[in-house]
Amino acid sequence: MAPADPPPRVPGQRPGGTGAPGLHARSAAAPDDPALLDLAALEERARGLLPPAVVDYYAGGAEGEITLAEATGAWRAWRLRPRVLRGGPPVQLSTRLLGSDVRTPIGIAPWAYQSLAHPDGERGSARGAAAVGALMTVSTSASAALAEVAAAEPHAPKWFQLYRRHSPAYTDDLARRAGQAGYRALVLTVDLPVLGLRLRDVANRMALPTGFPLGNAPPPGTPAAPTPEWTFDDISRFAGLSGLPVVVKGVLRGDDAARCVQAGAAAVWVSTHGGRQADPVVSSAAALPEIADAVGDEVEVYADGGIRSGSDALTALALGATAVFVARPVIWGLATGGAEGVADVLGGLSAQLAHTMALCGLSDVRSVPRDTVASAR
Ligand SMILES: Cc1cc2nc3c(=O)[nH]c(=O)nc-3n(C[C@H](O)[C@H](O)[C@H](O)COP(=O)(O)O)c2cc1C
Repeated sequence: MAPADPPPRVPGQRPGGTGAPGLHARSAAAPDDPALLDLAALEERARGLLPPAVVDYYAGGAEGEITLAEATGAWRAWRLRPRVLRGGPPVQLSTRLLGSDVRTPIGIAPWAYQSLAHPDGERGSARGAAAVGALMTVSTSASAALAEVAAAEPHAPKWFQLYRRHSPAYTDDLARRAGQAGYRALVLTVDLPVLGLRLRDVANRMALPTGFPLGNAPPPGTPAAPTPEWTFDDISRFAGLSGLPVVVKGVLRGDDAARCVQAGAAAVWVSTHGGRQADPVVSSAAALPEIADAVGDEVEVYADGGIRSGSDALTALALGATAVFVARPVIWGLATGGAEGVADVLGGLSAQLAHTMALCGLSDVRSVPRDTVASAR
């Protein structure tokens, strides 16, 4: 790997919350003060700790970054319609995702190279997620090996995200190993037939440092030819290989979502890949209602992209999502505070969700009616 412009670590970065006292005592069901989470300030702190090229890699999007810029605003093109005289707290945030119990419907989206952000890397994220009972999705491009991340919190539910970047035999092997290591689902990311044009990374000549750990990379000498483009038939093939339910991530059209379900997908994940692939594309917020309608109650639907508050999350749940996922807020949390920083972000967003639900007369995250939101226009 070519050396990176910036060193991956910088002095002055706060060490992680590894083994932090009280981490396991946190509970998204008994949330912290919803006013405590300030994501803008957190991002600012993280930017001060990380080399500029790493910040650009994490924060940036593709091409004109139109999708990236529109993501959060698209959730906020909807308005909440509170119900009155329907009871209030306590709000039930616990739910079940593909058969796994979680204490919050806000989970960690897969994101690559986590030890660029903090030495604890994916293990730190796993501990942070477990502390608040959130689901974590682990990337193929993780710094740590999939079995190591699974072992970091063996009882906390995790999904493994598969790319087709390696050879067919090695990709199949990763899928099998994910099943054996105790992951609860396999997430096929299908919006990356080629890498998006990430112009910040090109300008920075962004490259991983020599010797950077790539826990899921094949052993030296393994043929490098990537797997040919996946087809709908690969959904059931990977389900068979891994023994896991398959989630298809990166779907933005109702017709594609319906075909995924016909082909055996257990869930569909609406995503623009954080605005890092085709640009400009329809926002997740705009695509979600069409996709939820196309698949009906047959499968679970997830959404990510620009979710930055409890009301963004509630909007997604109202538009048909069973759960939502976040990447960049978790990146900033890990960078500034390791596992504890991750728990603070997920716990804070969950607390905001519970608070917003209470304000809207809703008490159960598993049944958020569609008419909870209306278009702002
Ligand atoms: C730095 C970074 C790395 C990412 N790496 C992956 C990855 O390895 N696999 C994947 O499926 N998606 C990846 N994504 C996309 C996220 O899973 C997710 O779809 C998106 O970032 C969510 O939007 P948000 O960052 O606005 O919350 C990455 C996103 C970022 C920002």
